[in-house]
Amino acid sequence: MASFSLQGKTALVTGSSSGIGQAVAERFRSAGAQVINADRLEPETPDDHFVLTDVSSESDLRKAFAYAIDRFGRLDILVNNAGIQPLGIPFRELTSSILERTFAVNVNGVAYGLKLADEFLEEGGRVINTASFVGMLGVPSGTAYATSKAAVIHLTKCGAIELAPKAITVNAVAPGTIETPAVMDIPDNPEIPFVSERTPLGRLGQSTEVAAAFHFLASAEASYITGAVLPVDGGIAAGWERYDLTAPSEISPDGQWHDPQS
Ligand SMILES: NC(=O)c1ccc[n+]([C@@H]2O[C@H](COP(=O)([O-])OP(=O)(O)OC[C@H]3O[C@@H](n4cnc5c(N)ncnc54)[C@H](O)[C@@H]3O)[C@@H](O)[C@H]2O)c1
Repeated sequence: MASFSLQGKTALVTGSSSGIGQAVAERFRSAGAQVINADRLEPETPDDHFVLTDVSSESDLRKAFAYAIDRFGRLDILVNNAGIQPLGIPFRELTSSILERTFAVNVNGVAYGLKLADEFLEEGGRVINTASFVGMLGVPSGTAYATSKAAVIHLTKCGAIELAPKAITVNAVAPGTIETPAVMDIPDNPEIPFVSERTPLGRLGQSTEVAAAFHFLASAEASYITGAVLPVDGGIAAGWERYDLTAPSEISPDGQWHDPQS
C-alpha cells in the first residue's frame, strides 16, 4: 500500500534554515526521516542536526555529508536547495562578482552535491535539486539567476544518467514564485503582483506546496522517475497567458470545418 513513508531514512537538506528548504525539512521529518540542515545561516529555532555549510565550498559540503554518516550511519536523500536569487539585474549591470557568486552557489553547490551523493548515498537513494521556472523561460534582467537554474536542470539530467547504476534517482523541482523570505522581504517587490497576474492559478505558491513535491520524489513510490523536472508553479511555465489569434476561414461560425474545394 502506498504511504510515502520516509521512516528509517536520513536526508541532508541544504538551505533549510529558511523558506522552501525549511518546509522540505519539516515535511521529511513528519514522514519519519532524520534531517540534517546544511546552511550558511543558523536556523531561528534550534536544530540538533545543523551543520554550518557554504555549499559553494566542496570541503564544507563534505563535512555535512560526514556528519550525516557519523551520526546516522547512512545517507539516503540529498536535497540541493540552497540558492541565492539575484534577479532585477540587466546585462548592462552584470559584473563578474555577481556571475561568479551566483554560479558558485547555485551551480557549483549542486555539482558538489551530486559528486558527494555518488560517493556517500545509499543504493536506491534520492537526489532532488531546486531549479526554478526561470530556468526554463527566458526573462529580462534575470541572466545570472536564470542561467544558473537552467544549469541546475542540466545537472539533474547528467546526474540521473551517471547515478542510475546505483539506482539513485536525480530529479528537480522547478518552483514558480513562492512566498518565502527571499521574495516577501524585498520592499514593494514588483514580482509579487506581476507573477500573480500571469500565473494561471492566479496566486503565488506556498513553501508547503513545493515541499509536497519533494516528498513525493523522495519516496519509494517515485522509484522509476529520474532526470525529470517537476514544475510547482501554478501553471506559469505551461505557456503564455495571452496569445492573440484569428480562427482560420475554413471554420464556419457554427464550428464546422470546411476544406477548400480543390
Ligand atoms: N522563493 C521563490 O520564489 C523561488 C522560486 C524558484 C526557485 N527558488 C529556489 O528555491 C531555493 C530556496 O529559496 P527560498 O526562496 O526558500 O530562499 P530563502 O532565502 O528563504 O532560503 C534560502 C536558504 O539558503 C541558504 N543559503 C544561501 N546561500 C547559501 C550557501 N552558499 N550555502 C548554504 N546555504 C545557503 C540561506 O541562508 C537560506 O537559509 C533556492 O535555490 C531558490 O533559488 C525559489
